[in-house]
Order: sequence, then structure tokens, then C-alpha cells
Amino acid sequence: MLDLLVHNATLPDGRSNMSIAVQNGRIAEVTAGLDAPAAEKVDAQGLLLAPHFVDPHFHMDATLSYGLPRVNQSGTLLEGIALWGELKPLLTAEALIERALAYCDWAVAKGLLAIRSHVDTSDPSLLAVDALLEVKRRVASYLDLQLVAFPQDGVLRSPGGVDNLKRALDKGVDVVGGIPHFERTMADGAASVKLLCELAAERGLRVDMHCDESDDPLSRHIETLAFEAQRLGLQGRATGSHCTSMHSMDNYYVSKLLPLIAEAGVSVVANPLINITLQGRHDSYPKRRGMTRVPELMAEGVNVAFGHDCVMDPWYGLGSADMLEVAHMGLHVAQMTSQSGIRQCFDAVTVNAAKVFGLEGYGLAAGCDASFVLLQARDPVEAIRLRATRLKVFRKGTLLSETPPATATLHVEGRASETSFMPARGAA
Ligand code: FE2
Repeated sequence: MLDLLVHNATLPDGRSNMSIAVQNGRIAEVTAGLDAPAAEKVDAQGLLLAPHFVDPHFHMDATLSYGLPRVNQSGTLLEGIALWGELKPLLTAEALIERALAYCDWAVAKGLLAIRSHVDTSDPSLLAVDALLEVKRRVASYLDLQLVAFPQDGVLRSPGGVDNLKRALDKGVDVVGGIPHFERTMADGAASVKLLCELAAERGLRVDMHCDESDDPLSRHIETLAFEAQRLGLQGRATGSHCTSMHSMDNYYVSKLLPLIAEAGVSVVANPLINITLQGRHDSYPKRRGMTRVPELMAEGVNVAFGHDCVMDPWYGLGSADMLEVAHMGLHVAQMTSQSGIRQCFDAVTVNAAKVFGLEGYGLAAGCDASFVLLQARDPVEAIRLRATRLKVFRKGTLLSETPPATATLHVEGRASETSFMPARGAA
């Protein structure tokens, strides 16, 4: 007998009336119309069953700290960094762990079961590193938390920066981070990329840098990252995050850059909610959007994913761990409103993000982990449109979260009726 059978589900690729058979935490079979004895049966009623959401770029050490010690008045990136600097000496491990665990609960409820979080390694006490390593241990049974050693104050610019980052890796942080555009000169930025990629190659780790998070068209550290990734054999294991300067770059230069990124197997992570709010702040009108060139990168064959980046922290006061909200903003900012563009944005918070992460057993196929989400929507486009309710969230065959369907009961002119904002489909 099966442990779990989800039947009558629609999959993201459009296949309908699908049954997903689960045994020992893994998907045993994906077949149309299968019925078989199972300890638990779920009738998906034709709704969308998707692999769980993955956030490839987040800052869990800062999350839910909004208003501590004060609110970001200007809402700019630089005031956010300054505010984080004010908050750091006041952080306690207990409070940081508590906030991170609360965020992980939000994540699970939203079907977000894997998060790559940067953790600031600039403070020599490595308090945030120890705290998030503890969080990683505590959530391991229900959420994959991958940590990136992130030298927020610049690995070369801050005294002891390299040593602190190496000590964080020694403690078990998974990925090498960086922030080349925040080093003092372009040359130092490039030197930091080289040094950090060599460190990643030496230790057999992945590398993920905040890269060119500015509107300066001459901020070209992504070029160095692609070059070093290729030189050191880091193809498929290197990621450039943000890459917002690419929005403002000269088109001729970009025509040379995109193939270089593709050839080097470097993934790009855009953070739509944050890029659209933090970039273009020095512009009057017209104001640049600032998000990297998502459709052009995708067309070149680059793996592009979307991250949440911030939720209720010094940089951004909004957010709720909802990767469909991230995809929704991403497709607007990138003008990816074609049917295929919207589906690509759904991929950016699921399969593409899983690729950045290097998640094993991800997907809806036999042999994959039975970690999936039943959404109150009939396809990925509707899921994004509605930021659809996560009716049921399963991880390795175990039910982790349930949310009742979002349905309004109307009392218009004495006519009792219900709506879930899903128009009827069928004959004209
Ligand atoms: Fe970030």
C-alpha cells in the first residue's frame, strides 16, 4: 500500500488528471488517472500541484527586524546598509534565532521549503553566523537552509574581512559570497572576485556574489565572475546576484557579455521586489527600473532565478515569504506578460531557483522527493495572478501546512453566492 496518493492534479507542464504516488518520502510514480490503495488520499480537484518554491537569495540574519533600532526613513540601499550597521552591535543570538524561526514558519506555510540565505560575516564575533547555523540545524527536518558567507562591509575593504569569511566557512557555512561593487575601487572589486572564486574552487564550494547592485553601467564585476568561474571550473556552481547595473549597460557591451555568462555556466538571480524599489534612486525622470535583463539572459540560455532578498528588514518593510509575489513583481518589471513569459517567471521561483541551490531530488518525477504544494489555481499563470493559496504543503510525503481556500461569500442584493476569483472555463 502507498503512503500517499494525490490524484486528479494538474501539473505545471499542463498535464491534467495526474496521480502522484508516494512511498517512503519519494515519488514512486506519476501517471494519469492512477488509483491505488494508500494510507492517505488527496483529491486535488483538478488544481495545480507544483514542486515546492525555492528562494535562491535571502538575508535571514536581518529578517523581521523592521523598525529596529529605527525605520529606514529614505528607503534607500545606502541608508539600509547604514541602519544594518547600527543594528549589528545590538543583535543577540536569541532574538535573531527567534526571528529566523518565525520566518521559516511563514516560509513553510507559503510552500517555500528551500532558502539560500546570505549571512553577514563582517562582525569578527560571527554572532549571526553561529545563530543561523543553529537555525539551519533546528529547521533541517522541514526546510533546507543553505548559508552564504557574505562580507557585507567588503571582504577587502573591512579589516579582517578575508579571515572572518574563512572562519565562517570553517564553521560550516555552505557557499562563498562577496560584494565586489562595494569594495573601494573597481580594481579591488575585481581582486575580491578572483580571491573569492579561488577560495570556492579550493574548498569545492559554490560561489554566489552580490554583483553590481548599482545603476552604474560601468560596474562590470559580473564579467570577472564569469571569467573566473570558467578559469577555475566553477561552471554550474557560480551565481551572480542582483546584477542590476546590466539594466543600464551599453547594448553593444551586453551583446558580448551575455554569451560570456552563458558559456561560463553562471546563474543570475534577480530580486524584483528589491531591485524595483532600491535602484534608480539617483534618477529624476525617466527613472530606470534597475532589474537585470531577465528575458535576454534567459534567451541566451542562462539560468535565471528570482529571489525575495528582504522581508521586513532595514532595506524593505514589506513581504511575507510569498515567492508568487516575487514572480508577480518580476514579470511586471521585466514586461514578461506573454503566456510563456509568465510561465518562465514561475520557473524562476521553482526549478531555476532549485538549480542555483543545487537541490537534489527536486521535481515532480518518479524518484524525486515528495515535496510539493497544492495550489488554489489551475495553472502557473493563475497561481501568479492570484498569489494562490497554498492549500497543502508536503515535504518528503509528510503534510507540513494547510491553508483554507480563499473564497469570498457575497451578499449582494440578497443573492448569496461565492467567488474564488477563478473564471469559468469551457465553451464560448
Ligand atoms: Fe541581497
